[in-house]
Amino acid sequence: MAGYFGANKYKFGVFGINCAGGMTPSRAPERWRADWDEMVEVATLADRSGVEFLLPIAKWHGLGGEADMWGRSFETFTQAAALGALTKNIGVFVTAHVSLITAAFAAKAITTVDHATHGRAGLNIVCGWNPDEFSPHGITLTGERRYDRGFEWYQIYAKMMEGGPKFDWKGEFFDLQGVITDPLPVQKPRPPVMSAAQSGDGQIFAARTADILFTALQSLDVASATVANLNNLAATYGRKPDVYVETQFVCKPTRKEALDYAHYYAVEMADPDAPAYFARQKARTMSSSTRTGDTVADRALAASLDGSKAPRYPGMFAGMYPVIGTPDDIVDELEKISALGVAGSTLVFLNYLQELPYFVQEVFPRMERRGLRAPVATG
Ligand SMILES: Cc1cc2nc3c(=O)[nH]c(=O)nc-3n(C[C@H](O)[C@H](O)[C@H](O)COP(=O)(O)O)c2cc1C
Repeated sequence: MAGYFGANKYKFGVFGINCAGGMTPSRAPERWRADWDEMVEVATLADRSGVEFLLPIAKWHGLGGEADMWGRSFETFTQAAALGALTKNIGVFVTAHVSLITAAFAAKAITTVDHATHGRAGLNIVCGWNPDEFSPHGITLTGERRYDRGFEWYQIYAKMMEGGPKFDWKGEFFDLQGVITDPLPVQKPRPPVMSAAQSGDGQIFAARTADILFTALQSLDVASATVANLNNLAATYGRKPDVYVETQFVCKPTRKEALDYAHYYAVEMADPDAPAYFARQKARTMSSSTRTGDTVADRALAASLDGSKAPRYPGMFAGMYPVIGTPDDIVDELEKISALGVAGSTLVFLNYLQELPYFVQEVFPRMERRGLRAPVATG
């Protein structure tokens, strides 16, 4: 399955508005606060502008540092239901930690959002990386076998969503009786499944389960290798997931203004304790493919975690590709990313409400002129 969310050649998902800090480890006072009404304004603007989907982050713990990024966050199933009711066309993902939520609960909750939105729900499956956010739930998270467990969870979920009679499940990780869900979702065979991961192990998991792999964009070369690897892996399962990547935008009328603003919030006002904690925790649960450097993406990930290379923008995540410049610069860069064979990327800004309107006004028409997007149908 491929090609969710319409015909635009390059698609966008607004990423991270449910969490304070969004996706930017910065202390800048105008950083994203995850105020509910501002979040609704961003979601409705994105909806009116034809943005394809909203993608929240599932978080139970902040990253520390002065700003304690992600310390404040809204839960994603309930957020998707609420934002779905306030919008008309945009896809609404939930992000589910498979170690916290049963497949039966997820099937029912996703189906609820899918009916409430007449077929706009999506499920982002995440297998977890930060042990500190599982301890409030009384769960110990390790990196070992998380994708094996996640795969069994997915099989149960997918079987339920196909309909059919009650079934029992006896696997390695789950022993369940009388499994069924009713009603079934509006979208068939089920709402799109996304897997968000970077490592080779994560790519194998995505190849087996996902309609969409959402992955880091460390560099254009790494992304190109990831697209090729995922396509090969998925072909062995008769599948062809779309690949989306992580992009962060700083778009201003002049290149100097854009570079100055990026320097201000992601260098001068960087909150380096947050990415440092992120790297430490991620290293604790590193996938075995990353430890052994199986893929280009694993090696890029390992290098970003060991702290040996000073990042150009310490106030941005290593996997988040900075796209900085005038509207024309932005579209030039997006054309290059599109040529890698990716379906789209994240819309991430320091402050979504302050920056998205200008981006939509200036970048979208330019993308339309280059055939990357089509104008939004009105009426
Ligand atoms: C685009 C993207 C979005 C992610 N969103 C979340 C999230 O919302 N919550 C979470 O705990 N992990 C999230 N992750 C982490 C992954 O789901 C995964 O558990 C972690 O990256 C370990 O994967 P690895 O095998 O690639 O190292 C995200 C990762 C990526 C690349």
